[in-house]
Amino acid sequence: MKGLILSGGHGTRLRPLTYSQQKQLIPVANKPVLFYAIEDMIEAGITQIGIITGPNREQVIETVKSRDWDAEITFIHQGDPKGIAHAVKVAREFLGNDDFVVYLGDNILKEGIVDHLDHFMMSDFDASILLCEVPNPQQFGVAELNDDGTIKRLVEKPKVPPSNLALVGIYFFKPIIHKAIDHLKPSWRGELEITEAIQWLIDHGYRVGWTKVTGWWKDTGKPEDIIDVNRLILDDLKTNIKSEIKGRIVGRVVIEEGVEIDENTTIKGPVVIGKNTKIRNSYIGPYTSIGNGCVIENTEVEDSIIMDGTTIINGGRLLESLIGRDVKIIKEESHPKGKKFVIGDHSRVFV
Ligand code: TTP
Repeated sequence: MKGLILSGGHGTRLRPLTYSQQKQLIPVANKPVLFYAIEDMIEAGITQIGIITGPNREQVIETVKSRDWDAEITFIHQGDPKGIAHAVKVAREFLGNDDFVVYLGDNILKEGIVDHLDHFMMSDFDASILLCEVPNPQQFGVAELNDDGTIKRLVEKPKVPPSNLALVGIYFFKPIIHKAIDHLKPSWRGELEITEAIQWLIDHGYRVGWTKVTGWWKDTGKPEDIIDVNRLILDDLKTNIKSEIKGRIVGRVVIEEGVEIDENTTIKGPVVIGKNTKIRNSYIGPYTSIGNGCVIENTEVEDSIIMDGTTIINGGRLLESLIGRDVKIIKEESHPKGKKFVIGDHSRVFV
């Protein structure tokens, strides 16, 4: 069994962050989203993992190599994102004639993939997909089931959804999928669609099974999804404090080395604070992740992600914010007073 994690794509819905950062490297609870997928694979006993890279190839390779993994990792360059099935095609040589799992590198699953993989291995399915009940199936790929519970059809973003079972970005395949992919033509959006390859299997009498996701599942495609998943991950946080803290700490927190928090600051968990960050006269409220080397002064932050190297001084009260690396948010006390912005394309500011 091999693993293929997709870490390409342009991530247009996450601009401006994705102008400089591959979306799967955005940190959730101070860990790149991509690492959750790698960890899930390793937990499931998969030791040969291919990672598909795209526009920011070097960044992905450098970040993955910054950690030692109990797996052999091969980087496979896709270049322009031409679809999930295209990524599988590009990985053909790596995959050989083995069974494999495809994991979209921007998906996070609370329960991991162990049970789903066991189900696939113990069955004689040619493919198996994960489905999750969602309140808004119109926004997802959705499965229509036959009366006996088998999959009849997969429909992309249906206006009238045939079920509330959304297609999760994790798929198990036998090598027959390569034949299905060879039959694909680019869709209206110019991509080779994995859903069409799975539909080809169903239409040609191959067996496609499914398992239900029982814990939470998140596709981190949009800023609000990243804030949501940060909340979900921090819900399971275990306290670990590696610095001497002068301020008041309430609830569960992870504080890395070299962190300075003064006596006028309150941290109310769950909160994660990265290395060498300095916080003065501030309140850091629940569900906040602050990266390495940040400075926060005279500011209240809640329910937010602040990435490495960012400085916030006299920032007022920040809520549900996703703030990139090396950002400066400073309210100056000198005259003339007023708002002064230097902001990249597609930024969003709510003042
Ligand atoms: P999407 O979220 O569908 O695409 P995207 O990442 O380009 O985002 P946006 O729609 O905001 O522009 O992709 C799902 C996952 O698969 C994501 O982790 C990126 C990855 N991917 C590839 O690696 N190669 C591809 O060709 C495509 C389409 C996606």
